[in-house]
Amino acid sequence: MTILVTGGAGFIGSNFVLDWLAHHNEPVVNLDKLTYAGNLNNLAAVHGDPRHHFVRGDIGDTNLVTRLLHEYQVRAVLNFAAESHVDRSIAGPAAFIDTNVVGTFQLLEAVRSYWSGLAIEVQAGFRFLHVSTDEVYGSLTPDAPAFDEQHCYAPNSPYSASKAASDHLVHAWHHTYGLPVLTTNCSNNYGPFHFPEKLIPLVIHNALAGKPLPIYGDGRQVRDWLYVLDHCSAIRRVLEAGTPGETYNIGGCNEMANIDVVHTVCAILDELRPRPDGVTYAAQVSFVKDRPGHDRRYAIDAGKLERELGWRPQETFQTGICKTVEWFLTHQDWVEDVTSGAYRDWVEKQYADGHPRP
Ligand code: NAD
Ligand code: DAU
Repeated sequence: MTILVTGGAGFIGSNFVLDWLAHHNEPVVNLDKLTYAGNLNNLAAVHGDPRHHFVRGDIGDTNLVTRLLHEYQVRAVLNFAAESHVDRSIAGPAAFIDTNVVGTFQLLEAVRSYWSGLAIEVQAGFRFLHVSTDEVYGSLTPDAPAFDEQHCYAPNSPYSASKAASDHLVHAWHHTYGLPVLTTNCSNNYGPFHFPEKLIPLVIHNALAGKPLPIYGDGRQVRDWLYVLDHCSAIRRVLEAGTPGETYNIGGCNEMANIDVVHTVCAILDELRPRPDGVTYAAQVSFVKDRPGHDRRYAIDAGKLERELGWRPQETFQTGICKTVEWFLTHQDWVEDVTSGAYRDWVEKQYADGHPRP
């Protein structure tokens, strides 16, 4: 048996592949387009591991997906592939519609066709797990209860609208065709391999480079932060024991305002890598123009996942953020590679004709 992971060279997908292979012997086919956000260096630890098969390609490439499903006799598809950055979706939404909406539709159709041809008993065990976000629920007022699975969808950005559309497609493919799907809606992740366009890795990178730490608006927007390996363990648990057709919210019970997150990161850096002049990194904070349509607060109620499947996060924000800052301090070569463009140049040469060079 084999699982097919899409987007497995991105931040969460690569953490998931590494985590999966640390817990299971079941092989992984990893299908990733290697956009700017995909990075094979994230998977260096499994380079040459016969359980990991990397394929560069698009989830919307029906022929390729169909071939992989048959060739590896896939028993579960985990769909991480997406355009994921809200600011990029505001600047240019087209790629978000192409991958998150149309790509997910094409993936669902390829999987449905493969699944329909399986023997009845194999069909029953098959799973399509769709990785989604808390942003589909929209924005909460300060005292409103956290999002549970019954919360209405009210996406506000091109990114969250495209993810909401993909969630609806996934639900419809279950309701109409009986495809055994699982959907997870997770809060903000952080941890190793986080691309330095997102708040936490951007702040670490800019702090060390002596650059301003940009805080949108008043910095009082609230996010619910989850260490990425806790997200991975939740997905493994949902895949193992979730009920087809159901949605599971995943969160860290760690609501924090952005400005407090940034001050926490600065304090850890002050401790581990003090500035030569002795001044705190917090002095680099710079309030900038707000993100258009910026959602004020997200919070996840992960009670269903705990009650029904016994999952709880292992990390608090304090333990997770210390690990994360330490990881970035000891992996400056990784940061340098993704920020300098050297990695992208390498990908373009390596995959010039669509296939890896020997
Ligand atoms: P990411 O941007 O770091 O990685 C996305 C990966 O998908 C990249 O490797 C990219 O190359 C690949 N990809 C993009 N388009 C593709 C396509 N058409 N075909 C194949 N591969 C493609 O994203 P992430 O932060 O790792 O997020 C992974 C998933 O989790 C996304 O679906 C996202 O919506 C969801 N999510 C993210 C967070 C978060 O905090 N980052 C929280 C909740 C949910
Ligand atoms: O909630 C889950 C979502 O979390 C995922 O679905 C998305 O894929 C992921 O990108 C993330 O979205 P956010 O927009 O919440 O993450 P980001 O790191 O971009 O921003 C976190 C908060 O920090 C948000 O309120 C905007 C703010 N911010 C962000 C950046 C990049 C700043 O104040 N300054 C910045 O420079």
